[in-house]
Amino acid sequence: MVDQLIADHEDKGLRMRPEVEQALRAVPRDRFTPGVTVERAYLADRSVVTKRASDGEAVSSVSAPFLISEMLNQAADAVDGLRGRSVLEIGSGGYNAALLAELVGPDGSVTTVDIDSEVTDRATACLSATGYDRVSVVCADAAQPIQPGRSYDLIIVTVGAWDIPPAWVAQLTDDGVLVVPLRTFGMTRSWALRRAGDRLVSHSQRLCGFVSMQGTGASQVRHVDLAPGVELRLDELQQQVDPEAIDGLLSAPSTQAWAGMSLPPATVLADLDLWLACRVTGEGQQFVVLAAEQTAIDAGVVAPAWRFGTPATLSKGGLCYRGELTWTDSRFDLGARAHGPDADAVARQMVEQMRAWVDAGTPSPVLHVLPAGTPDGDLLAGTVLDKRHSRLAITFTS
Ligand SMILES: C[S@@+](CC[C@H](N)C(=O)[O-])C[C@H]1O[C@@H](n2cnc3c(N)ncnc32)[C@H](O)[C@@H]1O
Repeated sequence: MVDQLIADHEDKGLRMRPEVEQALRAVPRDRFTPGVTVERAYLADRSVVTKRASDGEAVSSVSAPFLISEMLNQAADAVDGLRGRSVLEIGSGGYNAALLAELVGPDGSVTTVDIDSEVTDRATACLSATGYDRVSVVCADAAQPIQPGRSYDLIIVTVGAWDIPPAWVAQLTDDGVLVVPLRTFGMTRSWALRRAGDRLVSHSQRLCGFVSMQGTGASQVRHVDLAPGVELRLDELQQQVDPEAIDGLLSAPSTQAWAGMSLPPATVLADLDLWLACRVTGEGQQFVVLAAEQTAIDAGVVAPAWRFGTPATLSKGGLCYRGELTWTDSRFDLGARAHGPDADAVARQMVEQMRAWVDAGTPSPVLHVLPAGTPDGDLLAGTVLDKRHSRLAITFTS
């Protein structure tokens, strides 16, 4: 499993820190994954679901090793080594807490918190059975302060969040780091954010997916059916879709536009998706995420870049989304597909933004988190996204 993780990191141009590798080799993952075979426990790209809600949705899992290891490397890079640090993990399972215990060593501390007592009971038992009983396990809603008065060098959130509750910033040391899978515009990235006063600024980000946060910080994505097997996802406050405007939209003939670019090697298209979210909103156009069942793709109803969540826009002109890459004349090209009364124009508009991103040197997003109520004049240039407790500003850097 660890050899595979190292190879995956190299493929993505990431570096596996030696101490993270050592921790991954030391902790017996199969002792934290109830009900699955040893072989299954050590699959690098698979989580192990441990609890589902009545509608079948996963609410607790032991996260996939590749994701755990990417986030631990992000955390260790951002705090410049975890040895001796004090860490709060939000969302328990036991496995990641044991890895953190290896990383902080005997002079550091690890507290793990989960909202579900079934999860904390199992985590306590697994940690004790494997000799990691120095980890402190707490059952609570982690949107609230956990051990008032105590601060942490690192808070690592292992559940999908939509906002940054004030308690997370308040519990960090002055230059502490928060690693959090945060949803913006319906797309989740694991951000490593360093504290500077009452603000946080990102150090790195990675594409990821997580079960959603429960309790007072819960915020669900809204789903709107577009056609059988095709839906739009609305995530941000005030987002609305007029049912009449989308009725029969996909039955209209589609148009395809190409950016006509040659993509540089190792281009991170997840960065393009956030760029599009930031650039195509406004002037009667809203950003949404399109998702589709394979059956709808096979039937030719839609052809998105990624069926689990592709950037899209909705306006009077129609629906437009990022299409699959194409390989022509020895180059990969980016494209947009659109349906609706002004499909050509909306597709052209999206590919113009794709070209702008490539021309700008395929920049990556930087996230600035400020408290809700921060006056507009104190925000940085960039796209501003208002959550309940925070104002986010997203800028791009090459
Ligand atoms: C993906 S699992 C955590 C995985 C774990 N860190 C591991 O070692 O693999 C996410 C957990 O977050 C918990 N959770 C959800 N909302 C929470 C909240 N508000 N406070 C604390 N825990 C929460 C869920 O009960 C679930 O067990």
